[in-house]
Amino acid sequence: MYELLKTIMIEELEVEAGQVSPDASREDAGLDSLATFELSLALSQRLGVTIADEDLFGLRTLADIAEFLEKRTAGLPGSPGTSGSPAADQAEGREHAGLTRLLGTGDGVHPGGPAPAHQLARNENPFQPPASVLDAITRAAAEANRYPDPACEALRAALARHYGLFPDRVAVGAGSITLLQALLTVTAGPGAAVAYSWPSFDGYEVLADLAGFRTVRVPLAEDGHDLDALAAAVDEHTRLVLLCNPNNPTGTASGEADLLRFLDAVPRTCLVVLDEAYCEYARDPGLGARLLTSWPNLIVARTFSKAYGLAGMRVGYLLAEPGLISRVHRMVMPLSVSDVAQAAAVASLAAEKELLGRVRETAAERDRVRAALLALGFDVPPSEANFLWLPLGARAEEFAAACASAGVAVRPYPGDGVRVTTGTAEDNDAFLAAAEMNRP
Ligand SMILES: Cc1ncc(COP(=O)(O)O)c(C=O)c1O
Repeated sequence: MYELLKTIMIEELEVEAGQVSPDASREDAGLDSLATFELSLALSQRLGVTIADEDLFGLRTLADIAEFLEKRTAGLPGSPGTSGSPAADQAEGREHAGLTRLLGTGDGVHPGGPAPAHQLARNENPFQPPASVLDAITRAAAEANRYPDPACEALRAALARHYGLFPDRVAVGAGSITLLQALLTVTAGPGAAVAYSWPSFDGYEVLADLAGFRTVRVPLAEDGHDLDALAAAVDEHTRLVLLCNPNNPTGTASGEADLLRFLDAVPRTCLVVLDEAYCEYARDPGLGARLLTSWPNLIVARTFSKAYGLAGMRVGYLLAEPGLISRVHRMVMPLSVSDVAQAAAVASLAAEKELLGRVRETAAERDRVRAALLALGFDVPPSEANFLWLPLGARAEEFAAACASAGVAVRPYPGDGVRVTTGTAEDNDAFLAAAEMNRP
């Protein structure tokens, strides 16, 4: 156990090897409160039991910590040495049917088939990137013979300035999905569970499956996340909660007071990922970034794919405390964010005013479509994203098929409902015409 502790301290916490010895006190080994917190997370993940930082604060030397860990894990399956790579073991041999869903065959588009006249199944931004962003893309493309900046320095610095944070709190990846995957991979371990609301982003199922997590789905309440039930579902095996806010596919969003109560109720050894892929369309777009500094176990995931209209460029980012960011970075495939994508994202941040004007246009269109659907007799919850949710239950697939016949691709969730992206006014009118023909 001492050897495991030593390895984690040197390799993950980057403590000097000379500082680590069995007799070293926590202080001499560089375990200040933040490092102790990171150590507790790393140990929890490796050992498959919750080790709270409070447990470690009462122990004097590294030998004392190792002895405590021995006792804590005695007899547990999966304690060090019993399995090489539990996540890989569990993931091996699984069928990744979810990947198909993630890659979008549920959107009415089939490889080789014609594109729908109105693509409202993918939550894409209907607008092309602004001219300044297209210019930046063209300039960067001229250097395509060069490898990209592996550290994404300019983009991380621009994001850090944008949020008033140090760059060591920012991780950039090829879409937020790859960063979530990296995060799940570093958090996986024997018996580990991940909890999320349901229905929510179906990518979570795929990623949890790939990393070998047990998944805990907590049904949504009538008006969105049931945060009390989600907090109650967290136990000593729950490493992560994935909270999609606004929620995909329902568009519902939880506000600050509810989130604060939730964060208070969740133990700090459980990471909470606030996935804000659609936050720019919400009433309180700055919510996650505001909460970040008070909650070391909070991770905010954001993307350039939606409001910034760069889905094809593949750029997303995480904001979190530096220790978590550096662990995620070690898991992310190097050079996976092209210089073209990095330049596009930097230019998009600079063009934010123009882009947010388009976001307001889309939000106004979304509200127009919702009002028209309500007038047609559909039930549609208020949305804070760039899509609407029609809880059609058993009629979901039939409704989506009828829209497809009218040239409008929408996203069915069989048995639950249909998600409709807000497109251009023309796309939305085509959808409303199809909806009118298939009203309840
Ligand atoms: C809630 C949510 N999170 C993350 C993602 C992934 O976005 P990205 O394009 O950044 O990988 C999506 C994509 O649809 C999403 O809906």
